Amino acid sequence: MSANCQRGLFLTFEGVDGVGKTTQAQRLRDYLSAQGLTVLMTREPGGTPLGGAIRRLLLDPSAPHIGKRAEALLYSADRAEHVADVIRPALERSECVISDRYTDSSVGYQGGGRELSRRDIERLNEWATDGLQPDRTYLLDMDPAAARRRFAVSRETDRLESEPNPFQNRARQAFLDLAKRHRDRIAVIDASRGIDEVWSAIRTNIDALLATRKIGSR
Ligand code: TYD
Repeated sequence: MSANCQRGLFLTFEGVDGVGKTTQAQRLRDYLSAQGLTVLMTREPGGTPLGGAIRRLLLDPSAPHIGKRAEALLYSADRAEHVADVIRPALERSECVISDRYTDSSVGYQGGGRELSRRDIERLNEWATDGLQPDRTYLLDMDPAAARRRFAVSRETDRLESEPNPFQNRARQAFLDLAKRHRDRIAVIDASRGIDEVWSAIRTNIDALLATRKIGSR
């Protein structure tokens, strides 16, 4: 039988391309499910039907050129729909929600990478989500060049992954700056280690969080 997270629990994964977020998010989902918690796994962009269409528009290399302000607004539109239709309803049902990327990605990529004003991006995030913040964010951090080398050669590269490295380096730095300003929410995890070591750091952190919320390990 499934148990619910009290008041819902909202967890996000962030980091530059290729750091292994998706693998770790799946591990966390399996870990929480094994404790009897109801877990909803989702992602940005593309967590809703509208988001799927926006994702194709944003990431397909053959899509028309998108200016950086329009790009920021499209990520925000995806996020607004995602929060309203998927994330908030699940939290209201007291479920655990794990999102592969959320607001910090816009600060990292549109703020850091595209060099838009961080304050503007934060205001957009605030408005799009109506202020919904994660309970905990796992920022998987490593050198973007090393992360890229992990990609399988056969993998198609999308629009942002085809940006030269300075873009990813600025995004990494913006993520790290953000983590410094939100120490209670964002856990920086050294993602250059093996999958099991990275997972072990995340597991220690989530166990401590669950203990404070008096959920899990039942
Ligand atoms: P992601 O789904 O993590 O990539 P993939 O599934 O291909 O591994 O993210 C897709 C891209 O979207 C990624 O390069 C980062 C970018 N992105 C932004 O630039 N801003 C945002 O707000 C979000 C959510 C993603």
